[in-house]
Amino acid sequence: MTVKIEFLGHASFLVRSGSYTIAMDPFLNGNPVAKKSADEIECTHIVLSHGHADHIADAGPIAKRRGATVFGAFEICNFLGETHGLEKLEPMNPGGQVKTDFGFVALTRAYHSSSFDGRYMGMPCGVILSIGGKTIYHSGDTALFSDMKLIGELYRPDVALLCAGDRFTMGPEHAARAAEWVGAPVAVPMHYGTWPLLTSDMSGFKPRGVEARIMKPGEVMTVG
Ligand code: NI
Ligand code: MN
Repeated sequence: MTVKIEFLGHASFLVRSGSYTIAMDPFLNGNPVAKKSADEIECTHIVLSHGHADHIADAGPIAKRRGATVFGAFEICNFLGETHGLEKLEPMNPGGQVKTDFGFVALTRAYHSSSFDGRYMGMPCGVILSIGGKTIYHSGDTALFSDMKLIGELYRPDVALLCAGDRFTMGPEHAARAAEWVGAPVAVPMHYGTWPLLTSDMSGFKPRGVEARIMKPGEVMTVG
Protein backbone atom coordinates (compact mmCIF):
# COMPACT_ATOMS: atom_id res chain seq x y z
CA MET A 1 0.00 0.00 0.00
CA THR A 2 1.20 3.53 -0.74
CA VAL A 3 2.80 5.29 2.19
CA LYS A 4 3.28 9.04 2.07
CA ILE A 5 5.34 11.13 4.49
CA GLU A 6 4.64 14.85 4.82
CA PHE A 7 7.29 16.95 6.57
CA LEU A 8 5.60 19.51 8.81
CA GLY A 9 8.84 21.19 9.92
CA HIS A 10 11.30 20.58 12.79
CA ALA A 11 10.77 16.93 13.88
CA SER A 12 7.09 16.73 12.89
CA PHE A 13 5.78 14.43 10.18
CA LEU A 14 2.43 13.10 8.99
CA VAL A 15 2.51 9.54 7.68
CA ARG A 16 -0.48 8.45 5.58
CA SER A 17 -1.49 5.04 4.33
CA GLY A 18 -5.04 3.94 3.46
CA SER A 19 -7.43 5.25 6.10
CA TYR A 20 -4.66 5.87 8.65
CA THR A 21 -2.76 9.07 9.34
CA ILE A 22 -0.09 9.05 12.02
CA ALA A 23 1.31 12.31 13.37
CA MET A 24 4.89 11.97 14.62
CA ASP A 25 6.01 14.55 17.22
CA PRO A 26 3.38 17.15 16.24
CA PHE A 27 4.71 20.65 16.99
CA LEU A 28 3.02 23.34 14.92
CA ASN A 29 1.78 26.39 16.79
CA GLY A 30 5.12 27.41 18.33
CA ASN A 31 7.08 26.14 15.35
CA PRO A 32 8.49 29.02 13.27
CA VAL A 33 8.98 26.88 10.14
CA ALA A 34 5.60 25.09 10.18
CA LYS A 35 3.18 25.86 7.36
CA LYS A 36 0.17 24.40 9.19
CA SER A 37 -1.40 25.10 12.57
CA ALA A 38 -2.32 22.39 15.07
CA ASP A 39 -6.03 22.88 14.20
CA GLU A 40 -5.35 21.78 10.62
CA ILE A 41 -3.79 18.46 11.59
CA GLU A 42 -6.11 15.52 11.02
CA CYS A 43 -4.84 12.17 12.23
CA THR A 44 -5.96 8.84 13.60
CA HIS A 45 -2.86 8.23 15.73
CA ILE A 46 -0.03 10.20 17.31
CA VAL A 47 3.44 8.83 18.10
CA LEU A 48 5.79 10.73 20.42
CA SER A 49 9.55 10.27 20.77
CA HIS A 50 10.04 12.17 24.02
CA GLY A 51 8.53 14.84 26.26
CA HIS A 52 10.27 18.06 25.21
CA ALA A 53 7.90 20.84 24.18
CA ASP A 54 9.19 20.97 20.61
CA HIS A 55 7.87 17.40 20.20
CA ILE A 56 4.68 17.14 22.27
CA ALA A 57 3.37 20.72 22.61
CA ASP A 58 0.38 20.18 20.29
CA ALA A 59 -0.13 16.45 20.89
CA GLY A 60 -2.73 16.75 23.68
CA PRO A 61 -5.04 19.23 21.90
CA ILE A 62 -4.80 17.37 18.55
CA ALA A 63 -5.49 13.99 20.19
CA LYS A 64 -8.47 15.46 22.02
CA ARG A 65 -9.92 17.13 18.92
CA ARG A 66 -9.45 14.15 16.59
CA GLY A 67 -9.93 11.29 19.05
CA ALA A 68 -6.49 10.02 18.05
CA THR A 69 -4.69 7.25 19.96
CA VAL A 70 -1.36 8.36 21.44
CA PHE A 71 1.75 6.14 21.61
CA GLY A 72 4.65 7.25 23.77
CA ALA A 73 6.64 6.78 26.95
CA PHE A 74 4.61 5.65 29.99
CA GLU A 75 5.21 8.98 31.73
CA ILE A 76 4.15 11.07 28.71
CA CYS A 77 0.92 9.08 28.40
CA ASN A 78 0.18 9.60 32.10
CA PHE A 79 0.85 13.33 31.70
CA LEU A 80 -1.39 13.72 28.63
CA GLY A 81 -4.11 11.67 30.31
CA GLU A 82 -4.03 13.95 33.35
CA THR A 83 -3.75 17.27 31.52
CA HIS A 84 -6.05 16.63 28.52
CA GLY A 85 -8.35 13.89 29.76
CA LEU A 86 -7.17 11.53 27.02
CA GLU A 87 -8.18 7.89 27.29
CA LYS A 88 -6.85 6.37 24.07
CA LEU A 89 -3.27 5.97 25.27
CA GLU A 90 -0.65 3.32 24.49
CA PRO A 91 2.10 3.71 27.12
CA MET A 92 5.42 2.12 26.16
CA ASN A 93 9.15 2.07 26.89
CA PRO A 94 12.26 1.42 24.79
CA GLY A 95 12.44 -2.09 23.33
CA GLY A 96 8.67 -2.51 23.40
CA GLN A 97 6.42 -2.98 20.39
CA VAL A 98 2.64 -2.56 20.12
CA LYS A 99 0.68 -4.19 17.29
CA THR A 100 -1.86 -1.94 15.60
CA ASP A 101 -4.45 -2.13 12.80
CA PHE A 102 -1.92 -0.55 10.43
CA GLY A 103 1.21 -2.48 11.50
CA PHE A 104 3.11 -1.70 14.70
CA VAL A 105 4.81 0.98 16.75
CA ALA A 106 8.08 0.25 18.55
CA LEU A 107 10.27 2.49 20.70
CA THR A 108 14.05 2.33 20.45
CA ARG A 109 16.69 3.91 22.60
CA ALA A 110 17.82 7.51 22.14
CA TYR A 111 20.63 9.31 23.94
CA HIS A 112 19.03 12.56 25.13
CA SER A 113 16.81 13.86 27.98
CA SER A 114 13.05 14.14 28.42
CA SER A 115 11.10 16.54 30.62
CA PHE A 116 8.24 19.02 30.37
CA ASP A 117 7.96 22.06 32.67
CA GLY A 118 10.37 20.33 35.07
CA ARG A 119 8.38 17.10 35.13
CA TYR A 120 10.16 13.84 34.28
CA MET A 121 8.79 12.46 31.01
CA GLY A 122 10.42 9.04 31.03
CA MET A 123 13.10 7.79 28.68
CA PRO A 124 13.80 9.68 25.45
CA CYS A 125 13.16 7.35 22.53
CA GLY A 126 13.40 6.78 18.82
CA VAL A 127 10.34 5.44 17.03
CA ILE A 128 9.81 2.62 14.57
CA LEU A 129 6.56 2.95 12.65
CA SER A 130 5.45 0.01 10.52
CA ILE A 131 2.58 0.99 8.23
CA GLY A 132 1.31 -0.14 4.82
CA GLY A 133 4.12 -2.70 4.65
CA LYS A 134 6.79 -0.01 5.03
CA THR A 135 8.98 0.77 8.01
CA ILE A 136 10.01 4.24 9.11
CA TYR A 137 12.63 5.06 11.73
CA HIS A 138 12.27 8.45 13.45
CA SER A 139 15.39 8.98 15.56
CA GLY A 140 13.76 11.38 18.03
CA ASP A 141 16.42 13.65 19.52
CA THR A 142 19.63 11.75 20.07
CA ALA A 143 23.38 11.62 19.93
CA LEU A 144 24.94 9.17 17.52
CA PHE A 145 25.25 5.72 19.10
CA SER A 146 26.55 2.52 17.56
CA ASP A 147 23.40 0.52 18.39
CA MET A 148 21.82 2.32 15.45
CA LYS A 149 23.36 -0.64 13.58
CA LEU A 150 21.17 -2.90 15.72
CA ILE A 151 18.09 -0.80 14.94
CA GLY A 152 18.87 -1.28 11.24
CA GLU A 153 19.39 -5.01 11.72
CA LEU A 154 16.21 -5.53 13.76
CA TYR A 155 13.76 -3.40 11.79
CA ARG A 156 15.25 -2.91 8.28
CA PRO A 157 13.68 0.56 7.85
CA ASP A 158 12.79 1.87 4.38
CA VAL A 159 13.30 5.48 5.48
CA ALA A 160 15.30 7.05 8.32
CA LEU A 161 14.26 10.46 9.67
CA LEU A 162 17.35 11.71 11.50
CA CYS A 163 17.90 14.72 13.77
CA ALA A 164 20.82 16.73 12.38
CA GLY A 165 20.72 20.26 13.84
CA ASP A 166 23.62 19.79 16.27
CA ARG A 167 23.91 21.33 19.81
CA PHE A 168 21.06 19.23 21.34
CA THR A 169 21.37 16.25 18.99
CA MET A 170 23.54 14.84 16.23
CA GLY A 171 24.92 17.35 13.78
CA PRO A 172 24.93 16.69 10.02
CA GLU A 173 28.17 14.65 9.97
CA HIS A 174 27.03 12.38 12.80
CA ALA A 175 23.58 12.10 11.22
CA ALA A 176 25.25 10.98 7.98
CA ARG A 177 27.06 8.25 9.94
CA ALA A 178 23.72 7.34 11.55
CA ALA A 179 22.15 7.00 8.10
CA GLU A 180 24.96 4.62 7.07
CA TRP A 181 24.58 2.57 10.24
CA VAL A 182 20.77 2.34 10.10
CA GLY A 183 21.11 1.37 6.44
CA ALA A 184 17.72 2.57 5.16
CA PRO A 185 17.91 3.38 1.42
CA VAL A 186 16.67 6.93 2.06
CA ALA A 187 17.55 9.29 4.93
CA VAL A 188 15.89 12.63 5.68
CA PRO A 189 17.57 15.14 8.01
CA MET A 190 15.29 16.94 10.48
CA HIS A 191 15.43 19.04 13.66
CA TYR A 192 17.71 21.66 12.07
CA GLY A 193 17.41 25.34 11.16
CA THR A 194 14.22 25.83 13.16
CA TRP A 195 15.90 28.43 15.37
CA PRO A 196 19.33 30.11 15.16
CA LEU A 197 20.59 27.75 17.90
CA LEU A 198 20.38 24.85 15.45
CA THR A 199 22.56 24.74 12.37
CA SER A 200 20.77 25.15 9.04
CA ASP A 201 23.73 23.95 6.97
CA MET A 202 23.16 20.38 5.79
CA SER A 203 26.17 20.34 3.44
CA GLY A 204 27.83 17.85 5.82
CA PHE A 205 24.93 15.40 5.51
CA LYS A 206 26.45 13.09 2.90
CA PRO A 207 25.89 9.48 3.88
CA ARG A 208 27.67 6.92 1.69
CA GLY A 209 25.37 4.47 -0.09
CA VAL A 210 22.20 6.20 1.16
CA GLU A 211 20.03 8.72 -0.66
CA ALA A 212 20.05 11.98 1.33
CA ARG A 213 16.63 13.55 0.86
CA ILE A 214 16.25 17.15 1.99
CA MET A 215 12.59 17.96 2.63
CA LYS A 216 11.08 21.41 3.01
CA PRO A 217 8.14 21.95 5.36
CA GLY A 218 4.97 21.04 3.46
CA GLU A 219 6.79 18.63 1.14
CA VAL A 220 5.47 15.07 0.73
CA MET A 221 7.50 11.99 -0.23
CA THR A 222 6.23 8.57 -1.27
CA VAL A 223 8.01 5.67 0.44
CA GLY A 224 9.44 2.83 -1.65
NI1 NI B 1 14.52 17.07 22.86
MN1 MN C 1 13.92 18.62 20.19
